[in-house]
Amino acid sequence: QDHGLARDVLAGMRDIPDFPINGVVFKDFTPLLLDPSLRDRIVADTVHRRQGRVDVVAGIEARGFILGAMIAHALGVGFVPVRKEGKLPSAVHSRSYALEYGTATLEIHQDAVSNGERVLIVDDVLATGGTLAATCELIERCGASVAAIELVLEIGSLQGRDRLERYDVSSILTV
Ligand code: PRP
Repeated sequence: QDHGLARDVLAGMRDIPDFPINGVVFKDFTPLLLDPSLRDRIVADTVHRRQGRVDVVAGIEARGFILGAMIAHALGVGFVPVRKEGKLPSAVHSRSYALEYGTATLEIHQDAVSNGERVLIVDDVLATGGTLAATCELIERCGASVAAIELVLEIGSLQGRDRLERYDVSSILTV
């Protein structure tokens, strides 16, 4: 267990006021990616919890691609991109959802995960939970199961976790 990790991740993130729209404080995690040792500790934290318990990692566009690909590599399992509408070339399942700001649609290739596979979902931030709820539904529509959800940051006041009660959700820190 890496006890200083939450503190170091918090110190490594920065708040950007009024991005992408006025009144929203954006939690920017890109500085964490510049620090190879902190990046490795973030990956190791998930690997410690999930090694041997998942068959594939699904990363959510866009920051979930970065974290999810590193975690899939470390776990030695495959990686599946969950993308914004219109980006995936083959047949997709599609789900629209409300964001903290605006709406969006996410898609997954219908054949990306198969029946009974245990999927680990990875993203950077849990805010309202709409993104993750939609992603869970997409995975289940493929016939696979959501083994767990791993996040770097959870914004507690938005209560996204309430929408994910059925799932095993871990985050490095909650603000
Ligand atoms: C952010 C974040 C999560 C989502 C969380 O993505 O990376 O995916 O919002 O919000 P929610 O819990 O309220 O659904 P964003 O929409 O900024 O997309 P991007 O990663 O492509 O910039």
